[in-house]
Amino acid sequence: MCGIVGFTGHRPAAGILLEGLAKLEYRGYDSAGLAVYGGDGSVHVVKATGKLKNLIEKTDNGRSLPGSCGIGHTRWATHGEPNEKNAHPHVSGGFREDSSDYSDTAVIGVHNGIIENYEELREKLQRHGYVFYSDTDTEVAIKTVDYYYKKYKIGPIDAINRMMVRVRGSYALALMFQDYPGEIYAARKDSPMIIGVSDDESFLASDATAMLGYTREVYYIGNLQAARLLPGEVHFFDLNGDEISIPKAEVTWDEKGAEKNGYEHFMMKEMHEQPEAVRATLDSVLREERMSPAAKWSFGAGTLDFSGVGLPDEYLESIDAMTIVACGSAWHVGMAAQYVIEELAEIPVRVELASEYRYRKILSPANAVVLVISQSGETADSLEALRISKQMGIRTIGLVNVEGSSIAREADKILYTKAGPEIAVATTKAYTAQLALVYAFAVRLAFVKKKIDEDTYRKYVQELKSLPDHLTSLLDGKGRIQWLAAKYAGTKDAFFIGRGQDYAIGLEGSLKLKEISYMHSEAYAAGELKHGTISLIEDGTPVIGILTQERLLEKTISNLKECKTRGAYVIGITNAENPLVEECLDFVLRIPATDDHFAGLLAVVPLQLLGYYSSVSRGLDVDKPRNLAKSVTVE
Ligand code: M6R
Repeated sequence: MCGIVGFTGHRPAAGILLEGLAKLEYRGYDSAGLAVYGGDGSVHVVKATGKLKNLIEKTDNGRSLPGSCGIGHTRWATHGEPNEKNAHPHVSGGFREDSSDYSDTAVIGVHNGIIENYEELREKLQRHGYVFYSDTDTEVAIKTVDYYYKKYKIGPIDAINRMMVRVRGSYALALMFQDYPGEIYAARKDSPMIIGVSDDESFLASDATAMLGYTREVYYIGNLQAARLLPGEVHFFDLNGDEISIPKAEVTWDEKGAEKNGYEHFMMKEMHEQPEAVRATLDSVLREERMSPAAKWSFGAGTLDFSGVGLPDEYLESIDAMTIVACGSAWHVGMAAQYVIEELAEIPVRVELASEYRYRKILSPANAVVLVISQSGETADSLEALRISKQMGIRTIGLVNVEGSSIAREADKILYTKAGPEIAVATTKAYTAQLALVYAFAVRLAFVKKKIDEDTYRKYVQELKSLPDHLTSLLDGKGRIQWLAAKYAGTKDAFFIGRGQDYAIGLEGSLKLKEISYMHSEAYAAGELKHGTISLIEDGTPVIGILTQERLLEKTISNLKECKTRGAYVIGITNAENPLVEECLDFVLRIPATDDHFAGLLAVVPLQLLGYYSSVSRGLDVDKPRNLAKSVTVE
């Protein structure tokens, strides 16, 4: 989704803005633009469609835009096609074709989000003489600010507040007013925005990665709040225009996390970071017993303890039912978690797509909790699902990767994955870190609820601790998957099948393949294929069976045989030492032996690699697949 940046200080702004936009490229975009105050009081706006490099070239790497205060934007089109007129920044006046300039730049702004009532507002503004040059809702928001600013001759904060009262929807807005050179104004509702400050500079961005090279001191501006940024100084205001104070926070993420460190793609780097992401995540809920902190990772030692993250045993004990709500891959984590939590802790778990949950009648059982899983913590549907649950008085837990994100701030309780910044659109390390944390949660819940005995509990904790090393060995053997991907690079369809948790892992494997290789693929519960979809199997169609659940193995193998009989090339991912596997399958990928409850976390890695190498074989943009955005902040 769109990325916004802002900078005010005492050195050239354009280069810093372009650098920030480059860090936000991963969010997905199709055009970009900058506005910078010139020293002479004028404001220069430059836009370009396509990749950011087009804007970089057009501005001579920012050098053609002198000035030390500016805003920038990468646009992921929602209202209006991706062309220069629709690209941000947008301004008060009209566009003059003759001079390729704007008639009035009193107010200039960039926006992430959606203004829902923009048509009604546009008509009103047109009645007041405003002329629109773009199809965007953003231009309406900027001109609405301009309208109040000029009509009532009020200051920027008052004009912004009037706009906030008038518009419906979501926004992270960064604005400049020509009468206030060197200042940036911001407003936020339900779209991500973070404000940073150093000694004599101030920054604004959709997320911290854009400013980590300059500062770690940040403010999380709240909903329906506005801000005024001066060099090294930030002031916050509520909807009444009263100045409010917001606590300063420190971003703990390592800046290196947002760099490729020698890997060709972020996705490959992030897959290799999985052992560490899973280890760090488990470490946050693993406590030593009677030994030194380091000993908790040694054989036989250590216990799970969620009290440090606000979920003491009494809280866990009180959970009698769960609803897991999420989108995309995070929903797949929920699907896998459902099997493990139900099996170990013996409580009913329902898994819902956030986009559906928010519009259905919610019937919550007694003593239930809603667990919202989200890497970014900003996904619009997941955030809304969280809010609805809270309004209904249901207890909520957020499971989030990004510190200080909206879900992290609004959930009653928060569990953090420790995956660090994830840049590739296709999630890998955040997914496995989420899975590891829900596994640990399930094990502790089962133990606290006395559904497993102490020996079984200890065994499971031991199994969890072995996952990071298993991940390392899996990644070491990636060569065979590269070969497989090259062999099937030209294939039309692929199918993933499995039962129980293996079905959930198949869903993720299928998404990994299609989102970055653009190859059609579907995942099915293995027993369901013959109810229609098997008609698509032709000679050589790859069918990938996930075979990590011993008690379901023979059943899934029978389903794979049904496909093979119809010409499929059958591939199996398994931890099983069962002669049937070699007998039936054309290609076997082995994963390290671990308890079946946790094997899904290992089985997904070959599937991630398959997606990656398929994309590379087809010469595609692995990290930034077409049409997709990393963080989906609109519904
Ligand atoms: O940030 P979230 O985890 O809430 O994002 C949810 C989905 O958009 C996300 O998991 C998406 O499906 C993945 N990027 C796909 O790899």
